[in-house]
Amino acid sequence: MANLIVLGAQWGDEGKGKIVDLFSENFDFVVRYQGGHNAGHTVFIGETKFVLKLIPSGILRPGVKAVIGNGVVIDPAALMNEIASLEKAGIDVHSQLLISNRAHVIFPFHRMVEKVSEAREDRVAIGTTSRGIGPCYEDKIGRRGIRMADLVSPQGFEHLYRMLCEDKMTLATAFKVSEHIDFDQILADYRQFTEKLRPLVCDTSAMVNRAMSAGKKVLFEGAQGTMLDIDHGTYPFVTSSNASAGGACTGAGVPPTRIDGIIGVSKAYITRVGAGPFPSEILGEAGDHIRKVGNEFGSVTGRPRRCGWFDVPLLQYTAAINGFDSMIITKLDVLDDLAEVPVCVGYEIDGKPVTDMPATNEEVAKIVPVYEKLPGWITPTKGITDLKQIPKAAMDYLKFLEEKTGVEVGCVSNGPERNETMIVPGSKLARLLA
Ligand code: GDP
Ligand code: IMO
Ligand code: MG
Repeated sequence: MANLIVLGAQWGDEGKGKIVDLFSENFDFVVRYQGGHNAGHTVFIGETKFVLKLIPSGILRPGVKAVIGNGVVIDPAALMNEIASLEKAGIDVHSQLLISNRAHVIFPFHRMVEKVSEAREDRVAIGTTSRGIGPCYEDKIGRRGIRMADLVSPQGFEHLYRMLCEDKMTLATAFKVSEHIDFDQILADYRQFTEKLRPLVCDTSAMVNRAMSAGKKVLFEGAQGTMLDIDHGTYPFVTSSNASAGGACTGAGVPPTRIDGIIGVSKAYITRVGAGPFPSEILGEAGDHIRKVGNEFGSVTGRPRRCGWFDVPLLQYTAAINGFDSMIITKLDVLDDLAEVPVCVGYEIDGKPVTDMPATNEEVAKIVPVYEKLPGWITPTKGITDLKQIPKAAMDYLKFLEEKTGVEVGCVSNGPERNETMIVPGSKLARLLA
Protein backbone atom coordinates (compact mmCIF):
# COMPACT_ATOMS: atom_id res chain seq x y z
CA MET A 1 0.00 0.00 0.00
CA ALA A 2 1.16 3.47 -0.90
CA ASN A 3 1.16 7.07 0.37
CA LEU A 4 -1.69 8.82 -1.43
CA ILE A 5 -3.10 12.30 -1.95
CA VAL A 6 -6.89 12.49 -2.26
CA LEU A 7 -8.07 15.88 -3.49
CA GLY A 8 -10.89 17.72 -5.23
CA ALA A 9 -10.85 17.74 -9.03
CA GLN A 10 -13.50 20.47 -9.39
CA TRP A 11 -14.66 23.44 -7.25
CA GLY A 12 -14.87 21.59 -3.91
CA ASP A 13 -17.55 19.48 -2.18
CA GLU A 14 -16.81 16.52 -4.45
CA GLY A 15 -17.23 14.06 -1.56
CA LYS A 16 -13.59 14.02 -0.39
CA GLY A 17 -14.61 13.54 3.25
CA LYS A 18 -16.57 10.38 2.52
CA ILE A 19 -13.74 8.92 0.44
CA VAL A 20 -10.96 9.81 2.91
CA ASP A 21 -12.99 8.31 5.76
CA LEU A 22 -13.46 5.11 3.79
CA PHE A 23 -9.81 4.79 2.72
CA SER A 24 -8.41 5.78 6.12
CA GLU A 25 -9.04 2.25 7.35
CA ASN A 26 -5.89 1.28 5.42
CA PHE A 27 -3.64 4.14 6.61
CA ASP A 28 -1.74 5.03 9.78
CA PHE A 29 -1.90 8.81 9.30
CA VAL A 30 -4.35 11.17 7.58
CA VAL A 31 -2.92 14.65 7.03
CA ARG A 32 -4.77 17.86 6.06
CA TYR A 33 -2.40 20.14 4.18
CA GLN A 34 -4.21 23.42 3.45
CA GLY A 35 -7.34 25.49 4.00
CA GLY A 36 -9.10 25.92 7.31
CA HIS A 37 -12.65 25.73 8.62
CA ASN A 38 -13.92 26.98 5.26
CA ALA A 39 -13.94 23.25 4.39
CA GLY A 40 -16.91 21.06 5.22
CA HIS A 41 -16.31 17.33 4.77
CA THR A 42 -19.43 15.25 5.39
CA VAL A 43 -19.09 11.69 6.60
CA PHE A 44 -21.91 9.32 7.46
CA ILE A 45 -21.26 6.39 9.73
CA GLY A 46 -24.56 4.58 9.76
CA GLU A 47 -27.15 7.16 10.74
CA THR A 48 -24.62 9.48 12.37
CA LYS A 49 -23.54 12.49 10.35
CA PHE A 50 -20.22 14.25 10.97
CA VAL A 51 -19.18 17.46 9.22
CA LEU A 52 -15.43 17.85 9.63
CA LYS A 53 -14.01 21.30 9.03
CA LEU A 54 -10.45 21.48 10.29
CA ILE A 55 -9.80 17.99 11.56
CA PRO A 56 -8.95 15.33 8.95
CA SER A 57 -11.64 12.75 8.30
CA GLY A 58 -9.23 10.04 9.54
CA ILE A 59 -10.16 11.04 13.11
CA LEU A 60 -13.25 8.85 12.78
CA ARG A 61 -11.11 5.67 12.63
CA PRO A 62 -9.87 4.62 16.06
CA GLY A 63 -6.08 4.39 16.10
CA VAL A 64 -5.50 6.52 13.00
CA LYS A 65 -3.43 9.66 13.64
CA ALA A 66 -5.16 12.77 12.29
CA VAL A 67 -2.69 15.56 11.52
CA ILE A 68 -3.36 19.24 10.86
CA GLY A 69 -0.37 20.20 8.73
CA ASN A 70 1.63 23.44 8.56
CA GLY A 71 -0.26 24.60 5.45
CA VAL A 72 -3.57 24.82 7.33
CA VAL A 73 -4.83 28.01 9.01
CA ILE A 74 -6.40 27.37 12.42
CA ASP A 75 -9.12 29.26 14.23
CA PRO A 76 -8.59 27.92 17.77
CA ALA A 77 -12.21 28.63 18.77
CA ALA A 78 -13.50 26.65 15.77
CA LEU A 79 -11.03 23.87 16.52
CA MET A 80 -12.08 23.68 20.16
CA ASN A 81 -15.75 23.41 19.08
CA GLU A 82 -14.94 20.66 16.62
CA ILE A 83 -12.91 18.75 19.21
CA ALA A 84 -15.77 19.08 21.72
CA SER A 85 -18.40 17.77 19.31
CA LEU A 86 -16.21 14.81 18.29
CA GLU A 87 -15.50 13.99 21.94
CA LYS A 88 -19.21 14.11 22.62
CA ALA A 89 -19.62 11.46 19.93
CA GLY A 90 -17.13 9.27 21.81
CA ILE A 91 -14.02 9.93 19.70
CA ASP A 92 -10.70 9.91 21.52
CA VAL A 93 -9.49 13.14 19.89
CA HIS A 94 -6.62 13.75 22.32
CA SER A 95 -4.90 10.48 21.51
CA GLN A 96 -5.38 10.82 17.73
CA LEU A 97 -5.02 14.51 16.82
CA LEU A 98 -1.72 16.30 16.19
CA ILE A 99 -1.32 19.94 15.16
CA SER A 100 1.64 21.42 13.32
CA ASN A 101 3.64 23.99 15.26
CA ARG A 102 4.08 25.84 11.93
CA ALA A 103 0.36 26.21 11.12
CA HIS A 104 -0.87 29.81 11.22
CA VAL A 105 -3.49 31.12 13.64
CA ILE A 106 -6.74 32.90 12.68
CA PHE A 107 -7.93 35.73 14.96
CA PRO A 108 -11.39 37.36 15.09
CA PHE A 109 -10.01 40.46 13.37
CA HIS A 110 -9.19 38.37 10.29
CA ARG A 111 -12.94 37.89 9.86
CA MET A 112 -13.42 41.63 10.20
CA VAL A 113 -10.81 42.34 7.50
CA GLU A 114 -12.60 39.86 5.22
CA LYS A 115 -15.97 41.51 5.84
CA VAL A 116 -14.56 44.92 4.94
CA SER A 117 -12.86 43.57 1.83
CA GLU A 118 -15.98 41.70 0.61
CA ALA A 119 -18.17 44.78 1.13
CA ARG A 120 -15.95 47.31 -0.65
CA GLU A 121 -17.69 48.85 -3.63
CA ASP A 122 -14.48 48.97 -5.67
CA ARG A 123 -13.92 45.20 -5.29
CA VAL A 124 -15.85 42.27 -6.72
CA ALA A 125 -17.16 40.10 -3.87
CA ILE A 126 -15.70 36.57 -3.99
CA GLY A 127 -18.55 35.10 -1.94
CA THR A 128 -16.17 33.76 0.70
CA THR A 129 -17.15 31.66 3.70
CA SER A 130 -16.44 34.62 6.08
CA ARG A 131 -14.11 32.56 8.24
CA GLY A 132 -11.07 34.87 8.02
CA ILE A 133 -9.17 32.38 5.87
CA GLY A 134 -7.87 34.81 3.20
CA PRO A 135 -6.72 37.54 5.64
CA CYS A 136 -4.89 34.95 7.77
CA TYR A 137 -3.00 33.68 4.71
CA GLU A 138 -2.30 37.34 3.82
CA ASP A 139 -0.57 37.78 7.18
CA LYS A 140 1.32 34.51 6.62
CA ILE A 141 2.65 35.63 3.24
CA GLY A 142 3.21 39.15 4.62
CA ARG A 143 5.49 37.55 7.26
CA ARG A 144 3.63 39.02 10.20
CA GLY A 145 1.44 35.99 10.98
CA ILE A 146 1.35 34.10 14.27
CA ARG A 147 1.93 30.37 14.25
CA MET A 148 0.85 27.63 16.65
CA ALA A 149 4.44 27.49 17.98
CA ASP A 150 4.13 31.20 18.91
CA LEU A 151 0.69 30.73 20.40
CA VAL A 152 1.87 28.02 22.77
CA SER A 153 5.10 29.82 23.64
CA PRO A 154 4.88 31.22 27.18
CA GLN A 155 7.08 34.24 26.37
CA GLY A 156 6.83 35.07 22.68
CA PHE A 157 3.09 35.23 22.00
CA GLU A 158 2.00 38.50 23.63
CA HIS A 159 4.66 40.60 21.88
CA LEU A 160 3.83 39.18 18.43
CA TYR A 161 0.12 39.53 19.14
CA ARG A 162 0.42 43.21 20.13
CA MET A 163 2.38 43.94 16.94
CA LEU A 164 -0.30 42.26 14.80
CA CYS A 165 -3.02 44.19 16.65
CA GLU A 166 -1.31 47.50 15.94
CA ASP A 167 -1.25 46.57 12.29
CA LYS A 168 -4.97 45.80 12.32
CA MET A 169 -5.82 49.01 14.19
CA THR A 170 -4.00 51.03 11.53
CA LEU A 171 -6.06 49.21 8.89
CA ALA A 172 -9.31 49.76 10.81
CA THR A 173 -8.59 53.50 11.01
CA ALA A 174 -7.66 53.70 7.33
CA PHE A 175 -10.88 51.95 6.29
CA LYS A 176 -13.01 53.85 8.83
CA VAL A 177 -14.21 50.63 10.49
CA SER A 178 -16.48 51.50 13.37
CA GLU A 179 -16.65 47.94 14.78
CA HIS A 180 -15.05 47.75 18.23
CA ILE A 181 -12.40 45.07 18.67
CA ASP A 182 -11.55 44.08 22.22
CA PHE A 183 -7.93 43.06 21.70
CA ASP A 184 -7.39 42.29 25.41
CA GLN A 185 -10.40 39.97 25.53
CA ILE A 186 -9.11 38.13 22.44
CA LEU A 187 -5.73 37.73 24.15
CA ALA A 188 -7.39 36.30 27.26
CA ASP A 189 -9.53 33.89 25.16
CA TYR A 190 -6.54 32.70 23.16
CA ARG A 191 -4.55 32.06 26.35
CA GLN A 192 -7.37 29.77 27.47
CA PHE A 193 -7.42 27.88 24.15
CA THR A 194 -3.66 27.50 24.40
CA GLU A 195 -3.84 25.52 27.60
CA LYS A 196 -6.06 22.93 25.92
CA LEU A 197 -4.23 22.79 22.60
CA ARG A 198 -0.59 22.84 23.78
CA PRO A 199 -0.31 19.04 24.28
CA LEU A 200 -1.35 18.45 20.66
CA VAL A 201 1.12 20.87 19.03
CA CYS A 202 4.34 19.39 17.63
CA ASP A 203 6.61 19.23 14.58
CA THR A 204 4.22 17.20 12.44
CA SER A 205 6.47 17.30 9.37
CA ALA A 206 9.33 15.62 11.29
CA MET A 207 6.88 13.12 12.76
CA VAL A 208 5.21 12.20 9.45
CA ASN A 209 8.57 11.89 7.68
CA ARG A 210 9.89 9.63 10.43
CA ALA A 211 6.71 7.56 10.28
CA MET A 212 7.02 7.12 6.50
CA SER A 213 10.66 6.05 6.89
CA ALA A 214 9.45 3.43 9.36
CA GLY A 215 7.01 2.10 6.74
CA LYS A 216 3.83 3.75 8.03
CA LYS A 217 1.25 4.73 5.42
CA VAL A 218 0.01 8.28 4.99
CA LEU A 219 -3.08 9.65 3.28
CA PHE A 220 -3.06 13.37 2.46
CA GLU A 221 -6.53 14.93 2.48
CA GLY A 222 -7.14 17.95 0.27
CA ALA A 223 -9.69 20.61 1.11
CA GLN A 224 -11.55 22.74 -1.47
CA GLY A 225 -10.79 21.74 -5.09
CA THR A 226 -8.23 22.43 -7.80
CA MET A 227 -10.40 25.12 -9.44
CA LEU A 228 -10.30 26.99 -6.10
CA ASP A 229 -6.48 26.77 -5.94
CA ILE A 230 -4.91 30.21 -5.45
CA ASP A 231 -2.57 29.70 -8.46
CA HIS A 232 -4.48 27.41 -10.80
CA GLY A 233 -8.13 28.17 -10.08
CA THR A 234 -10.43 30.84 -11.45
CA TYR A 235 -8.52 33.68 -9.75
CA PRO A 236 -9.63 35.83 -7.93
CA PHE A 237 -12.71 33.62 -7.32
CA VAL A 238 -10.61 31.10 -5.43
CA THR A 239 -9.55 30.30 -1.90
CA SER A 240 -6.20 31.50 -0.54
CA SER A 241 -4.21 28.27 -0.52
CA ASN A 242 -2.86 25.58 -2.85
CA ALA A 243 -5.58 22.96 -2.89
CA SER A 244 -3.82 21.12 -5.74
CA ALA A 245 -1.47 18.16 -5.25
CA GLY A 246 1.66 20.33 -4.98
CA GLY A 247 0.16 21.86 -1.84
CA ALA A 248 0.36 18.49 -0.08
CA CYS A 249 4.16 18.57 -0.04
CA THR A 250 4.54 22.19 1.09
CA GLY A 251 1.53 22.00 3.39
CA ALA A 252 2.61 18.83 5.18
CA GLY A 253 6.40 19.22 4.89
CA VAL A 254 7.00 16.00 2.96
CA PRO A 255 9.06 15.46 -0.20
CA PRO A 256 7.29 14.80 -3.55
CA THR A 257 9.36 11.61 -3.85
CA ARG A 258 7.34 10.11 -0.96
CA ILE A 259 4.03 10.39 -2.81
CA ASP A 260 3.04 7.21 -4.61
CA GLY A 261 -0.36 8.14 -5.99
CA ILE A 262 -2.66 11.09 -6.61
CA ILE A 263 -6.40 10.54 -6.65
CA GLY A 264 -8.89 13.12 -7.93
CA VAL A 265 -12.43 13.16 -6.55
CA SER A 266 -15.12 14.42 -8.92
CA LYS A 267 -18.89 14.41 -8.90
CA ALA A 268 -20.71 12.78 -11.83
CA TYR A 269 -21.72 16.40 -12.50
CA ILE A 270 -20.22 19.56 -11.00
CA THR A 271 -21.04 22.20 -8.40
CA ARG A 272 -19.65 25.52 -7.21
CA VAL A 273 -20.45 27.68 -4.16
CA GLY A 274 -19.79 31.41 -4.29
CA ALA A 275 -19.11 33.74 -7.21
CA GLY A 276 -17.01 33.17 -10.34
CA PRO A 277 -17.29 31.80 -13.87
CA PHE A 278 -18.76 28.33 -14.40
CA PRO A 279 -18.88 27.24 -18.08
CA SER A 280 -21.18 24.22 -17.74
CA GLU A 281 -23.56 25.77 -15.18
CA ILE A 282 -27.18 24.62 -15.53
CA LEU A 283 -29.58 27.47 -14.95
CA GLY A 284 -33.32 27.06 -14.42
CA GLU A 285 -35.33 23.96 -13.65
CA ALA A 286 -32.75 21.32 -14.60
CA GLY A 287 -30.25 22.93 -12.21
CA ASP A 288 -32.88 23.13 -9.46
CA HIS A 289 -33.62 19.43 -9.98
CA ILE A 290 -29.97 18.37 -9.48
CA ARG A 291 -29.69 20.69 -6.45
CA LYS A 292 -32.74 19.07 -4.89
CA VAL A 293 -31.88 15.45 -5.66
CA GLY A 294 -28.19 15.92 -4.76
CA ASN A 295 -29.02 18.04 -1.69
CA GLU A 296 -26.55 20.59 -3.01
CA PHE A 297 -26.43 23.07 -0.16
CA GLY A 298 -23.11 24.13 1.39
CA SER A 299 -22.02 22.07 4.41
CA VAL A 300 -20.40 25.16 6.00
CA THR A 301 -22.59 28.12 5.04
CA GLY A 302 -25.78 26.36 3.90
CA ARG A 303 -25.74 28.35 0.63
CA PRO A 304 -27.34 26.67 -2.42
CA ARG A 305 -24.59 25.22 -4.60
CA ARG A 306 -24.62 26.15 -8.27
CA CYS A 307 -24.93 22.96 -10.37
CA GLY A 308 -23.57 22.08 -13.81
CA TRP A 309 -22.90 19.18 -16.17
CA PHE A 310 -19.67 17.20 -16.02
CA ASP A 311 -16.98 19.31 -17.67
CA VAL A 312 -14.34 17.28 -19.57
CA PRO A 313 -11.95 20.18 -20.45
CA LEU A 314 -12.00 21.27 -16.80
CA LEU A 315 -11.19 17.75 -15.64
CA GLN A 316 -8.42 17.46 -18.23
CA TYR A 317 -7.00 20.71 -16.88
CA THR A 318 -7.11 19.61 -13.22
CA ALA A 319 -5.74 16.17 -14.19
CA ALA A 320 -2.78 17.86 -15.89
CA ILE A 321 -2.05 20.07 -12.87
CA ASN A 322 -2.31 17.26 -10.35
CA GLY A 323 -1.22 14.23 -12.37
CA PHE A 324 -4.19 12.09 -11.36
CA ASP A 325 -3.47 8.37 -11.29
CA SER A 326 -7.13 7.66 -10.86
CA MET A 327 -10.44 9.45 -10.52
CA ILE A 328 -13.31 8.70 -8.14
CA ILE A 329 -16.77 9.56 -9.44
CA THR A 330 -19.21 10.40 -6.65
CA LYS A 331 -22.96 11.02 -6.61
CA LEU A 332 -23.70 8.88 -9.66
CA ASP A 333 -27.09 8.13 -8.02
CA VAL A 334 -28.09 11.80 -8.31
CA LEU A 335 -28.37 11.37 -12.11
CA ASP A 336 -30.48 8.18 -11.83
CA ASP A 337 -33.78 9.68 -12.99
CA LEU A 338 -32.55 11.72 -15.99
CA ALA A 339 -33.66 10.68 -19.48
CA GLU A 340 -30.44 12.07 -20.93
CA VAL A 341 -27.21 13.39 -19.42
CA PRO A 342 -25.34 16.16 -21.23
CA VAL A 343 -21.55 16.28 -20.84
CA CYS A 344 -19.45 19.30 -21.74
CA VAL A 345 -16.83 17.85 -24.10
CA GLY A 346 -15.21 21.03 -25.39
CA TYR A 347 -14.96 24.80 -25.10
CA GLU A 348 -15.36 27.45 -27.79
CA ILE A 349 -14.78 31.18 -27.65
CA ASP A 350 -16.04 33.27 -30.58
CA GLY A 351 -16.68 30.06 -32.51
CA LYS A 352 -13.08 28.83 -32.14
CA PRO A 353 -12.07 25.79 -30.08
CA VAL A 354 -10.18 26.50 -26.86
CA THR A 355 -7.47 24.01 -25.94
CA ASP A 356 -5.97 25.48 -22.75
CA MET A 357 -7.88 26.87 -19.77
CA PRO A 358 -7.91 30.67 -20.17
CA ALA A 359 -6.22 32.64 -17.37
CA THR A 360 -8.70 35.51 -17.08
CA ASN A 361 -12.25 35.32 -15.86
CA GLU A 362 -13.36 37.55 -18.72
CA GLU A 363 -12.26 34.81 -21.13
CA VAL A 364 -13.63 31.94 -19.01
CA ALA A 365 -16.96 33.78 -18.88
CA LYS A 366 -16.97 33.89 -22.71
CA ILE A 367 -16.64 30.11 -23.03
CA VAL A 368 -19.47 28.43 -24.93
CA PRO A 369 -19.55 24.78 -23.84
CA VAL A 370 -19.92 22.10 -26.50
CA TYR A 371 -22.23 19.36 -25.23
CA GLU A 372 -22.69 15.74 -26.11
CA LYS A 373 -25.86 14.13 -24.79
CA LEU A 374 -25.67 10.62 -23.41
CA PRO A 375 -28.69 8.41 -22.74
CA GLY A 376 -29.81 8.30 -19.12
CA TRP A 377 -30.43 5.02 -17.27
CA ILE A 378 -33.64 5.88 -15.39
CA THR A 379 -32.92 3.01 -12.97
CA PRO A 380 -31.80 3.45 -9.37
CA THR A 381 -28.07 2.88 -8.90
CA LYS A 382 -28.56 3.55 -5.20
CA GLY A 383 -28.31 0.34 -3.25
CA ILE A 384 -26.09 -1.39 -5.81
CA THR A 385 -22.91 -2.79 -4.26
CA ASP A 386 -21.46 -4.64 -7.25
CA LEU A 387 -20.31 -2.79 -10.37
CA LYS A 388 -21.70 -5.63 -12.49
CA GLN A 389 -25.20 -4.58 -11.41
CA ILE A 390 -24.78 -0.99 -12.64
CA PRO A 391 -27.18 -0.31 -15.58
CA LYS A 392 -25.44 -0.40 -18.95
CA ALA A 393 -26.16 3.26 -19.76
CA ALA A 394 -24.60 4.34 -16.43
CA MET A 395 -21.55 2.19 -17.12
CA ASP A 396 -21.33 3.72 -20.62
CA TYR A 397 -21.49 7.16 -19.01
CA LEU A 398 -18.54 6.31 -16.72
CA LYS A 399 -16.58 4.82 -19.64
CA PHE A 400 -17.27 7.99 -21.64
CA LEU A 401 -15.86 10.16 -18.82
CA GLU A 402 -12.82 7.92 -18.60
CA GLU A 403 -12.14 8.00 -22.34
CA LYS A 404 -12.71 11.73 -22.74
CA THR A 405 -10.65 12.79 -19.71
CA GLY A 406 -7.90 10.22 -20.19
CA VAL A 407 -8.06 9.34 -16.46
CA GLU A 408 -9.27 5.96 -15.22
CA VAL A 409 -12.41 5.80 -13.12
CA GLY A 410 -11.08 3.75 -10.18
CA CYS A 411 -14.04 4.05 -7.87
CA VAL A 412 -17.73 4.90 -8.05
CA SER A 413 -19.80 6.28 -5.20
CA ASN A 414 -23.59 5.89 -5.27
CA GLY A 415 -24.62 7.19 -1.88
CA PRO A 416 -23.25 9.09 1.11
CA GLU A 417 -22.44 6.07 3.28
CA ARG A 418 -19.23 4.09 3.53
CA ASN A 419 -20.72 0.96 1.99
CA GLU A 420 -22.10 2.90 -1.00
CA THR A 421 -18.74 2.84 -2.76
CA MET A 422 -17.38 0.45 -5.38
CA ILE A 423 -13.69 0.18 -6.23
CA VAL A 424 -13.07 -0.98 -9.80
CA PRO A 425 -11.26 -4.35 -9.64
CA GLY A 426 -7.91 -4.28 -11.46
CA SER A 427 -7.79 -0.47 -11.51
CA LYS A 428 -4.66 1.48 -10.63
CA LEU A 429 -6.54 2.76 -7.57
CA ALA A 430 -7.22 -0.81 -6.42
CA ARG A 431 -3.49 -1.54 -6.76
CA LEU A 432 -2.51 1.62 -4.85
CA LEU A 433 -4.86 0.68 -2.01
CA ALA A 434 -3.80 -2.96 -1.89
P1 GDP B 1 -16.32 17.39 0.52
O1 GDP B 1 -16.21 18.81 0.98
O2 GDP B 1 -15.59 17.14 -0.74
O3 GDP B 1 -15.97 16.40 1.60
O4 GDP B 1 -17.87 17.16 0.18
P2 GDP B 1 -19.13 17.66 1.07
O5 GDP B 1 -19.24 16.81 2.26
O6 GDP B 1 -19.09 19.13 1.26
O7 GDP B 1 -20.30 17.42 0.04
C1 GDP B 1 -20.58 16.16 -0.49
C2 GDP B 1 -22.02 15.77 -0.10
O8 GDP B 1 -22.44 14.68 -0.87
C3 GDP B 1 -22.16 15.33 1.36
O9 GDP B 1 -23.42 15.70 1.81
C4 GDP B 1 -22.03 13.80 1.26
O10 GDP B 1 -22.71 13.14 2.32
C5 GDP B 1 -22.72 13.55 -0.05
N1 GDP B 1 -22.22 12.40 -0.82
C6 GDP B 1 -20.96 11.95 -0.97
N2 GDP B 1 -20.92 10.94 -1.88
C7 GDP B 1 -22.19 10.76 -2.30
C8 GDP B 1 -22.79 9.89 -3.26
O11 GDP B 1 -22.16 9.10 -3.92
N3 GDP B 1 -24.14 10.02 -3.44
C9 GDP B 1 -24.90 10.92 -2.73
N4 GDP B 1 -26.21 10.97 -2.98
N5 GDP B 1 -24.36 11.75 -1.82
C10 GDP B 1 -23.03 11.68 -1.62
P1 IMO C 1 -14.52 21.74 0.79
O1 IMO C 1 -13.21 21.32 1.42
C1 IMO C 1 -16.64 24.56 -1.79
C2 IMO C 1 -15.22 28.72 -1.76
C3 IMO C 1 -16.11 29.80 -1.16
C4 IMO C 1 -15.70 30.99 -2.01
C5 IMO C 1 -14.21 30.77 -2.21
C6 IMO C 1 -13.32 31.56 -1.25
O2 IMO C 1 -15.70 21.44 1.64
O3 IMO C 1 -14.61 21.23 -0.60
P2 IMO C 1 -12.76 31.30 1.34
O4 IMO C 1 -13.66 31.40 2.54
O5 IMO C 1 -12.04 30.02 1.20
O6 IMO C 1 -11.83 32.48 1.23
O7 IMO C 1 -13.78 31.43 0.08
O8 IMO C 1 -13.98 29.38 -2.01
N1 IMO C 1 -14.92 27.58 -0.86
C7 IMO C 1 -15.44 26.35 -1.01
N2 IMO C 1 -16.35 25.87 -1.88
N3 IMO C 1 -16.08 23.73 -0.89
C8 IMO C 1 -15.14 24.18 -0.02
O9 IMO C 1 -14.44 23.35 0.79
C9 IMO C 1 -14.81 25.55 -0.03
N4 IMO C 1 -13.96 26.33 0.69
C10 IMO C 1 -14.03 27.55 0.17
O10 IMO C 1 -17.47 29.46 -1.31
O11 IMO C 1 -16.32 30.91 -3.28
MG1 MG D 1 -17.43 20.40 1.45
